[in-house]
Amino acid sequence: MSRDELKGLIRTVPDFPSAGIQFRDITTLLAHAEGLAASIDMLAQRAEGLDATKVAGIEARGFIFGTALALRLGVGFVPVRKAGKLPVECIGEDYALEYAEARVELDPSIIEAGDRVLVVDDLLATGGTALAAVRLLRRAGAQVSHALFVIDLPELGGADALSEQGVETLSLVEFAGH
Ligand code: PRP
Ligand code: MG
Repeated sequence: MSRDELKGLIRTVPDFPSAGIQFRDITTLLAHAEGLAASIDMLAQRAEGLDATKVAGIEARGFIFGTALALRLGVGFVPVRKAGKLPVECIGEDYALEYAEARVELDPSIIEAGDRVLVVDDLLATGGTALAAVRLLRRAGAQVSHALFVIDLPELGGADALSEQGVETLSLVEFAGH
């Protein structure tokens, strides 16, 4: 499957969650057997040579692609969770959404000395979510040099924001506009 074909499986929903926003919806991609397989194949190609020892996925949609990629790479999966879900002592990072604050949390005991952790999420917009995950993983002792996304919205500047923090981004498809 080509990248354009994969892109064609992502549904665009106008005016969600608010007027003027074009929501890029992976539901239709996930439901398509070949599209789902191709998305994991393509993420695995981009992960080649990065020598990751773990994959971290960001709740919720990053869990879907991150777990499948970890299985493919033969490494463990690290859940970066939304606030208040972990049953053990954890570390947290706050980040800004357009009109609100959010927080992600991590059990730092999951990270081992020398871990090279690859961050995976479905979509890169401003990069705020991924950067919070990177800060958490680094606080726990992980090396983080790359982040993988199915979708990049380049006009929102996420790749630059991550690059400024020493994280290179790789994505499968890009959409212009928000
Ligand atoms: C969405 C998306 C990314 C994040 C990207 O998650 O899945 O995780 O926003 O935005 P950013 O680059 O501006 O931070 P969201 O928290 O909306 O929902 P989810 O729980 O469905 O993944
Ligand atoms: Mg998300």
